Amino acid sequence: MLASLRQSSPADTAELAAVHALLRCLIREVAAPREEVWPAEPYLFLRVADHLLRVRSHGGIALRFDGAAQELCGGTWRRLTVDRLAELTETEMTRRTGTANGEFARQVAESRDAVAALLHARERAVPPEDPWLASEQSLVLGHPCHPSPKAPGGPGWLRYAPESFARFPLRFVAVRRELAASAGDASALDRLGPAAPEGYLPLPVHPWQLELLHDELAEPLADGRLIDLGYGHGPVHPTSSVRTVYDPGGRVCLKFSLDVRITNCVRKNSWYELAGAVELSRRLGPVLESVARDHPGTRWLAEPGYRSADLGLRLLEGLGVIVRQDPWQVVGPGVTPLLAGSVAAPGDRSAAALAAACGDPLAWWAAYLDRVAPPVFDAYLVHGVVLEPHLQNVLIGIDPEGFPVEAVFRDMEGTKLVAGRHDLTGLPDGVAGPLTYDADRGWSRVVYCLIVNHLAEIAATLAGPQAADGADLHRRLWAIARDRLARYADRHDRHDRLTALLTGEPLPAKANLVVRWARSADRAAGYVPVANPFHLGDHDATALRSAR
Ligand SMILES: Nc1ncnc2c1ncn2[C@@H]1O[C@H](COP(=O)(O)OP(=O)(O)OP(=O)(O)O)[C@@H](O)[C@H]1O
Ligand SMILES: [Mg+2]
Repeated sequence: MLASLRQSSPADTAELAAVHALLRCLIREVAAPREEVWPAEPYLFLRVADHLLRVRSHGGIALRFDGAAQELCGGTWRRLTVDRLAELTETEMTRRTGTANGEFARQVAESRDAVAALLHARERAVPPEDPWLASEQSLVLGHPCHPSPKAPGGPGWLRYAPESFARFPLRFVAVRRELAASAGDASALDRLGPAAPEGYLPLPVHPWQLELLHDELAEPLADGRLIDLGYGHGPVHPTSSVRTVYDPGGRVCLKFSLDVRITNCVRKNSWYELAGAVELSRRLGPVLESVARDHPGTRWLAEPGYRSADLGLRLLEGLGVIVRQDPWQVVGPGVTPLLAGSVAAPGDRSAAALAAACGDPLAWWAAYLDRVAPPVFDAYLVHGVVLEPHLQNVLIGIDPEGFPVEAVFRDMEGTKLVAGRHDLTGLPDGVAGPLTYDADRGWSRVVYCLIVNHLAEIAATLAGPQAADGADLHRRLWAIARDRLARYADRHDRHDRLTALLTGEPLPAKANLVVRWARSADRAAGYVPVANPFHLGDHDATALRSAR
């Protein structure tokens, strides 16, 4: 959408994007479950709070829209603003849930304004030369199915926003050795900034978090439990999650706590997540090695250690930093990692652009599927590991021609072990509990992240609008996906879960609007059923033959 609107102002682009994002949530979570949405070419119609709305749509369950949405007002179709759509949403959601939410409309409007500010900032700033970093910093519109994807976390947010091409130095404190909290190997932190005096260890702090923890840090800094070391060696770059930064000099990623709300969560590394990330990294090594033997091109970013300061829970969690591998260190020679989310969005390195440059979109898609899907299914079915392969947690490695040759999986926070399939004795309950999912919950997470959040978006981008034969291409893409999945299922004794997917059972989609409306924690988010794209109709034999 960004590309097709290049001519319009940042404010207009942001307004339209905000309408589209909220509309996607309404269709998925409110109208579809009540059968109050229906297609009548070229429009999709829906009813919200007794009002009839319409928008031109394509892209299957990814719900891509062309142009403005409209509301029927006294016999005339009028352009729908996001303020009006938020108002209709408030009426509908209050009616359905019996609860009001006085901050919802403001969050929607602030998210729209933030997107406009980001677009504006990008017109003046210089993008990073590193193509992976550029992809991390390209998610200007954010999560496509969230009512307020870019609602800012607090004042001054633009200074630290990846999408504004921000770069900034980290601040370092020294923590007295006996007060240092750590697990695993966090020695990478020792070479990123000023050396700590004898008896202390260096600890990098995100400058935004330093501001937020100002009051809590005053005492330990005054009495010498901590020492302010000043700034690090060079600028770091925020990645798509905002709180994880890349240090190109140190060749490492650092996942910080940030006590601000980004989409559904205050981005704090809880004490058990700090320990859990390191524990999972230790256990995942052999699992991912085994997966990679069967599926060459499988890579992952280990989180080998964390460090913090044992100065009470607030500072232990607030200062906790997780060390994560640099993607450039794990990909093969000549391979460029790109954030899957950026490949799903329009642009020079979109799925459509890369596939077109290769000359065979169907072969490109088949290769993409083969890199991303089997490792995720293997991890779950063979090893009892739930990866979280949504668009922001996967990097696709492309060769110099732009062809998908590797997939890099990351983010231990969302990675879980299937309960009952791992020996967790010895781990404290507080760490073991959050590390595990029961088998059904884990499978829902896998299917949502991989198919609904990820592959459906890549397919929609590859197919493009229907006007350009997108509908036909879309069908052929899913025919290929179904064929790939059927072959995978054959190799795995037609596992019941895979068979159910192939029969077309509805898929789970995360209910971001409902969870935001209820102001609940992200982990409380439920799912709503959406159509299963593996069941689009008969196989297209031509499409299958031309996939390599
Ligand atoms: N399609 C998408 N699916 C999920 N998250 C998305 C998507 N597009 C953008 N995002 C954004 O990416 C972030 C994903 O959050 P997540 O919890 O996976 O990351 P994190 O744990 O904070 O950091 P990291 O990924 O660096 O470990 C959120 O800020 C979310 O809004
Ligand atoms: Mg993530």
